Amino acid sequence: MLAIGILVSGRGTNLQSIIDAIEAKRINAEIKVVISNKPDALAVERAGKHGIPVEVITNEGFASREAYDAKLVEVLKGYGVELVVLAGYMRILTPGFIKAFPMRIMNIHPALLPSFPGLNVQKKAIEYGVRYSGCTVHFVTEEVDTGPIILQAPVPVLCDDTVESLSKRILTEELKLYPEAIGLFSEGKLEVRGRRVFIKEKE
Ligand code: GRF
Repeated sequence: MLAIGILVSGRGTNLQSIIDAIEAKRINAEIKVVISNKPDALAVERAGKHGIPVEVITNEGFASREAYDAKLVEVLKGYGVELVVLAGYMRILTPGFIKAFPMRIMNIHPALLPSFPGLNVQKKAIEYGVRYSGCTVHFVTEEVDTGPIILQAPVPVLCDDTVESLSKRILTEELKLYPEAIGLFSEGKLEVRGRRVFIKEKE
């Protein structure tokens, strides 16, 4: 069974969708630990309700980002984590962290990468005038939002969309896509060749 560690900072709807998929046995995995850098994150409460170990690690007392990330690696390895899942984690990981889990860190981004990396991307998609945005699950590499793409789901941008309405429709897709990607990983079906991720038995 795949041992997962999930990093969060906020409301935790993606975390909840992963918890639900595991509890419904749609993914053969166990969440060993949820780590939050924010003590008051709703995600912390969600994990607690499901009896998942939670570690709150704020950046207080750490001399550098590297020192902070070294602590995270120590905690994750201590729980035997094999796959790190970023679910609304609002810090950029240092190269040291990424080297500790090569092609074993996933992120979900609320746009169709490589369009609109970074923050506030639903607003950027509306302002740019694209007809489609969506979400992307990708492996995390040292450059932000550029790692090999695992799955994507398109979402049309409607002419009367607000940031809120578009974000909501994208989130609906995120909540399906992330558990699907983790499921594929847990079944050993993802093969990374260069920038491309092949899904075994499908391609
Ligand atoms: C999601 O929109 C996700 O794509 C982005 O951060 C948000 C997290 O939301 N990376 P939640 O904490 O899972 O509700």
